[in-house]
Amino acid sequence: MNELECVETMDKAGQQYWDRHWESIPQSEFKPDGGRLRDSGDAALAGLIRRAFEPLPKGAEIVEAGAADSTILPWIVRTLGASGTGLDYSEAGCERFRRRLAACSVPAEVVCCDVFAPGDGLRGRFDGALSMGLVEHFTDTVAVVGALGALLRPGGRLLTLIPNMRGSVGALQRAVAPSVYRVHVPLSAHDLAAAHAAAGLRVVDSGYLQPMGFSVVNFNEPSASRVGYWMRRLAVAGLARISWASWWIDRHARLPRSVLFSPWAYCVAERPVAK
Ligand SMILES: C[S@@+](CC[C@H](N)C(=O)[O-])C[C@H]1O[C@@H](n2cnc3c(N)ncnc32)[C@H](O)[C@@H]1O
Repeated sequence: MNELECVETMDKAGQQYWDRHWESIPQSEFKPDGGRLRDSGDAALAGLIRRAFEPLPKGAEIVEAGAADSTILPWIVRTLGASGTGLDYSEAGCERFRRRLAACSVPAEVVCCDVFAPGDGLRGRFDGALSMGLVEHFTDTVAVVGALGALLRPGGRLLTLIPNMRGSVGALQRAVAPSVYRVHVPLSAHDLAAAHAAAGLRVVDSGYLQPMGFSVVNFNEPSASRVGYWMRRLAVAGLARISWASWWIDRHARLPRSVLFSPWAYCVAERPVAK
């Protein structure tokens, strides 16, 4: 088996899965700045991105891996004044992302390639790298985190976010769309940090984002009937409202972030500078 065939066997979703995904799902928006309760998830994510990339200078080069149709990278370019590159192996996803960039007039490079085979021009080039919903699709977490770390220059920062499939979000995902649940490796924040350390990176911070958040659950189970689709959609929307209530409480008295209820786990790490 050659190196790329090896990578294919550890990829639980695969390129065709993502091409179908990007040809069918509606576009979303990132609204971190309005102060509305329902956008608290976006605001929490924006805060984490600012903290993770805070040490980087204006004009820093930041790459998002798995950037298909990203709402985050255009925000990073505009708000942090970074130079952005989006990398994804799904051609359909890259095409959507090119259209989004053109529509919001944000200059960013789009590279359609596998993160395990990015080409020499990308390896060791970036001051910052992020991925959101990518590494948990691979059975070898250390290998995929290592591939992300290889995009960084020494001293560069990596922010990795994954949906928390270990707690109640994972249980709901398994109940409403088992085929979607099956393409994930359920990892805790501790597992994620350990994988970054094992990949040779220095862990700066890791934990869970937000006390609760069920809107991260994907309710699109391909085998479901029309009625089944709407029942799933309504169940997730109802639970999402309960998370909004937790966000309101969290504004007044900070609630704990936990493996049981938080929607996202994250890790911030640095590529060490050789002595
Ligand atoms: C959950 S989506 C992330 C979407 C986007 N970041 C967002 O927040 O809307 C994961 C993305 O990772 C991409 N991906 C998965 N494995 C990859 C690989 N080995 N190389 C490059 N992209 C990959 C998929 O094509 C997919 O677009």
